[in-house]
Amino acid sequence: MKTYSIALIPGDGIGRDVTDAAWAILAKAAENSGFRLDGTRFPWSCAFYEETGSMLPTDGIEILRGFDAILLGAVGWPAKVPDSVSLHGLLLPIRKAFVQYANVRPHRLLPGVQGPLRVEDFDILCIRENTEGEYSGAGGRIHQGTDNEVAVETSIFTRAGVERILRFGFEQARARRGRLASVTKSNAQKYSMVFWDEVTRKLAAEYPDVEVTSYHIDAMAARMILAPDSLDVIVASNLFGDILTDIGAAIQGGLGFAASANINPDRSAPSMFEPVHGSAPDIADLGTANPIAAVWSGAMMLDHLGEADAARKIMHALERTTASGFGTARAQQKTEAITAAILNVLD
Ligand code: NAD
Ligand code: IPM
Ligand code: MN
Repeated sequence: MKTYSIALIPGDGIGRDVTDAAWAILAKAAENSGFRLDGTRFPWSCAFYEETGSMLPTDGIEILRGFDAILLGAVGWPAKVPDSVSLHGLLLPIRKAFVQYANVRPHRLLPGVQGPLRVEDFDILCIRENTEGEYSGAGGRIHQGTDNEVAVETSIFTRAGVERILRFGFEQARARRGRLASVTKSNAQKYSMVFWDEVTRKLAAEYPDVEVTSYHIDAMAARMILAPDSLDVIVASNLFGDILTDIGAAIQGGLGFAASANINPDRSAPSMFEPVHGSAPDIADLGTANPIAAVWSGAMMLDHLGEADAARKIMHALERTTASGFGTARAQQKTEAITAAILNVLD
């Protein structure tokens, strides 16, 4: 039987609950479709940091490299470990080490889900650059703690990095409705963002069938709320994509619905699948985390692994579940009840 090895990193807070939920559904989907998922759990998290002094063992990245894919819950417990330590110790290094340069985040309303907007008929695919830009980690602080303190955070944009993410976006647009929105702030940022706009124009010549529009990030933030139905594929830098995808999450009913795939398009290393949301310390012990974002991310994992049929079945089960009221904002169920409802209608 075809078997895929999956590294499970539940992480912190609700990351653990939603990973359990996603795993139960993935396991049943695999069984129904005639393949096997062989999961190995890793306890890497803020609790692990408190015990060992690091977010993952020194050979952690090399261990992960041997898996077909990684399923992650959420990382971060700011009351105990600063985010600058936990995220730079686990999540961000995985994205970089495995060249998961395309962060793919779909935004649409599942049936029955109450969005905050009047416009409900939208289907947006956000493609976020995931390995460089504003998240390069280059910078420093001098005269720390004094009145003369200076903090520098350098964004690094390489031609190779910008070209490959835009090309990925153009390919997605070509496979969808043929429209690409490229997002910058080139009216204020005159080096990196002007450069990004130039690369966009250069690639546009190679994709005459794709309609390209460049937007500034501020205008795009408003457009996602006022006219989300005018958008198809959005490509943005690491930080701008991060912000836009929380807007995307908000308009699709909340963070509990927003899925995410960190893709290595060359398949030279494993890709990683995780919800957009974090560890949600405010609800961590209530058992009320919505598992739908994690389950949807799991479906994206199966699709990436070549199990498109099983992925479709999971999406269908999610749609049937939300259509009947489970997981929607109108009904505050427990994680376990939503998971059981999805399992119940999974073909
Ligand atoms: P968050 O996404 O954890 O929570 C924001 C709000 O959304 C909270 O009110 C939370 O209760 C709610 N929420 C999130 N997911 C939900 C779900 N599945 N069901 C119901 N409600 C949900 O963002 P935050 O509070 O800014 O961050 C908390 C921690 O998580 C921080 O340490 C942060 O750095 C980290 N974080 C990690 C990731 C990740 O691992 N990919 C992503 C975002 C934030
Ligand atoms: C996300 C998260 C992370 C990011 C944080 C936790 C570093 O917000 O995956 O969207 O900014 O990439
Ligand atoms: Mn984010």
